[in-house]
Amino acid sequence: MQIYSKLPDVGTTIFTVMSQLAIEHNAVNLGQGFPDFMMSEELTGLVDEAMKKGFNQYTHMNGFPLLRERLAEKIGKLYQTPVHPDTEITITPGGTYAIYTALTTVLEPGDEVIVFEPAYDSYIPNIEINGAVPIRISLQYPDYSIPWEEVKAKVNSRTRMIMINSPHNPTGSVLSEHDMQQLKQVVAGTNIIILSDEVYEHLVFDGIQHQSILRYPELLERSFVCFSFGKTYHCTGWKLGYCISPASLMKEFRKVHQFNCFSCDTPKQVALAAYLQNEAAYLSLGAFIQQKRDYFRQLMKATPFECIPSHGSYFECYSYAGISEESDKDFAIRLTKEYGIATIPVSAFHKNGKDDKVIRFCFAKKEETLEKAVEKLVTLK
Ligand SMILES: Cc1ncc(COP(=O)(O)O)c(C=O)c1O
Repeated sequence: MQIYSKLPDVGTTIFTVMSQLAIEHNAVNLGQGFPDFMMSEELTGLVDEAMKKGFNQYTHMNGFPLLRERLAEKIGKLYQTPVHPDTEITITPGGTYAIYTALTTVLEPGDEVIVFEPAYDSYIPNIEINGAVPIRISLQYPDYSIPWEEVKAKVNSRTRMIMINSPHNPTGSVLSEHDMQQLKQVVAGTNIIILSDEVYEHLVFDGIQHQSILRYPELLERSFVCFSFGKTYHCTGWKLGYCISPASLMKEFRKVHQFNCFSCDTPKQVALAAYLQNEAAYLSLGAFIQQKRDYFRQLMKATPFECIPSHGSYFECYSYAGISEESDKDFAIRLTKEYGIATIPVSAFHKNGKDDKVIRFCFAKKEETLEKAVEKLVTLK
């Protein structure tokens, strides 16, 4: 029997390679994006309570109704945008699933999708598996801003979608109001749909306001906006998130969702519905994670790395151009094997492997983990 790969270019990714190497060399893992500190005990307690109360069977396919209501209230308060819990919100098993479902809902073979690189690793395979064509545009090094003139030049009648991600993985760049105005100009009068990946919604630093699509009704009317409870509540292993879109798009999204996962984990949704009433839990998150970024950045000053400032997310990128001429993959592998620190080379987020000699560190870790990592990095030769 012959098997044809639908994704012939996808092999073992550097993420798997680095995680494996980190285990083999007992390295401090600042590679993968997850916290190593405990999540809220109040929230785990609420899950326990929900299970004991009997919330252990399938819930509504669109998500536990009270959770959708509470999300609509939160969005109304944060972004002054009315979102209808019955028709415009769907709970999903994670942000990545929401993104995949949104793409699968609208993409036809041959459609073009504008995607900015470095890009979160699922985007391009998600485009390609739908037979669509990624039109890759490099963010401008070193501030990783969007080159809007290039975007305007690449938009044509085949452009079906533009994908944005703010705060941005892997670089920690954030979109500004100016960017949103540019986006408005680009899509005005077209049929282009926007996919906005906002899983780091609350992880924004330096007093910057998160420019959610939810603030812009003219953009929201053509958007899928994807979020992750895992990132907001330090429980990436829960794999729960949600998608917001206008009812006309959401109706189609749910057709794909219905026959894929149908409904998500019930007790956790019940718990999250209760926990969403604790506004401080999400409003304090930016300051909490910023402290970690600041601590890590301060420690890193003792090393020869050059900081490329992050303004959001779990990540900060550093240039090693002044240290070595190795490729970023070789350098990251050497750091893991010889110094016991796992990171991610940023070329992994470029389909053509563009290498600016930059590696990504995840600073969403305990202070002692960050200290342990930097103690090793200061000995770097
Ligand atoms: C930019 C971006 N989008 C989506 C996700 C996935 O979120 P989830 O774990 O909820 O699927 C991640 C996780 O690393 C991410 O960095």
